[in-house]
Amino acid sequence: MKRLLITGAAGFIGSNFAHYWLKQHPGDFVLAFDLLTYAGNRANLAALESHPDFLFVQGDINDTALVSTLLTEHTIDTLVHFAAESHVDRSITGPDVFIHTNVTGTHSLLKAARDCWLQGDGIPHRFHHISTDEVYGTLTLDEPPFHEELPYKPNSPYSASKAASDHLVRAYHHTYGLEVTTSNCSNNYGPFHFPEKLIPLCISNALRGKPLPIYGEGKNIRDWLHVEDHCRGIDLILNNGRLGENYNIGGNNEWTNIDIVTTICQLIDEQFANKSSYAERYPEAAAARGERSDSLITYVTDRAGHDLRYAIDASKINRELGYSPAYSFEQGILQTVRWYLDTPEWWEPLLDT
Ligand SMILES: NC(=O)c1ccc[n+]([C@@H]2O[C@H](COP(=O)([O-])OP(=O)(O)OC[C@H]3O[C@@H](n4cnc5c(N)ncnc54)[C@H](O)[C@@H]3O)[C@@H](O)[C@H]2O)c1
Repeated sequence: MKRLLITGAAGFIGSNFAHYWLKQHPGDFVLAFDLLTYAGNRANLAALESHPDFLFVQGDINDTALVSTLLTEHTIDTLVHFAAESHVDRSITGPDVFIHTNVTGTHSLLKAARDCWLQGDGIPHRFHHISTDEVYGTLTLDEPPFHEELPYKPNSPYSASKAASDHLVRAYHHTYGLEVTTSNCSNNYGPFHFPEKLIPLCISNALRGKPLPIYGEGKNIRDWLHVEDHCRGIDLILNNGRLGENYNIGGNNEWTNIDIVTTICQLIDEQFANKSSYAERYPEAAAARGERSDSLITYVTDRAGHDLRYAIDASKINRELGYSPAYSFEQGILQTVRWYLDTPEWWEPLLDT
């Protein structure tokens, strides 16, 4: 039985992971820890609040003393670290908080973990750090996907702050013997995704008849993975991953931004055609008038320093841990579009946050 502390547990992936873990590992304990910044939402965890093995604590990963106390008092043996500032655009307009949260905050957690788990003979533990494929930089159209042996070449303040945190995690393993693993994942999609990110922004704007902004020519390429498949990869690493190792997790599923948005538009149009109540619920949607949602696509000035392409070589986790995604993209994106259509009470209060 494991006793987990999940940082960033009220965010998109952290909350999905808390749901995933308690479903897959009955009897394990989950302490959900989150500062509840603009991106954190207690509603993501509402279904778990009455779970006997679940506890939510609001707090800051930079509060080393609080984290130490929680690790000790709740006899935590596994820390899964999702908490971060995660939006590249925000890192361009305001990088300071990215350094404070992603770099200093990760270091604060490492210090708390070292204090609690490495005193005397030490106790069995795991510190799993969630990172991103963006630390590897960018790819040309014909370069092979990112593998774990590549040097880090981060291009945005966000990816640079994540790269710095990855190095600190690695250093705490090599210097102090902290039992760490790190995963570098591609772009996630699925329920509870904050509506500032491409896929939920596109869905929520289409349902309100608002423009669907596409950077540049929409030719940037990302490798998309359903969030539950990310959670499954982390589960495998926690149980069987080698200490001190990085594992890339990806969907082998590259899409240009314009193709993703066009696909989502088609799915929305189909859903409206199949269910008349959507037109009543979302009267401002183009689809409610029988028009195409992709008529809302609007090209905007490209993001500064926009990486052209990310793609993940996930052969290491496949070979060592038997990982492959369970969702096809067709299943996963349809489920996601339907979730947003059927759960406006979750995303409407978050708009313009
Ligand atoms: N979303 C993706 O596609 C993706 C892909 C690869 C890796 N990642 C990584 O996964 C992790 C989670 O990403 P996400 O998309 O769920 O992010 P998110 O922005 O949805 O959630 C981040 C959470 O961290 C919390 N938080 C922020 N600062 C905090 C602090 N100082 N103390 C405690 N909690 C704090 C926020 O309140 C929020 O709940 C991040 O580390 C991110 O870099 C994300």
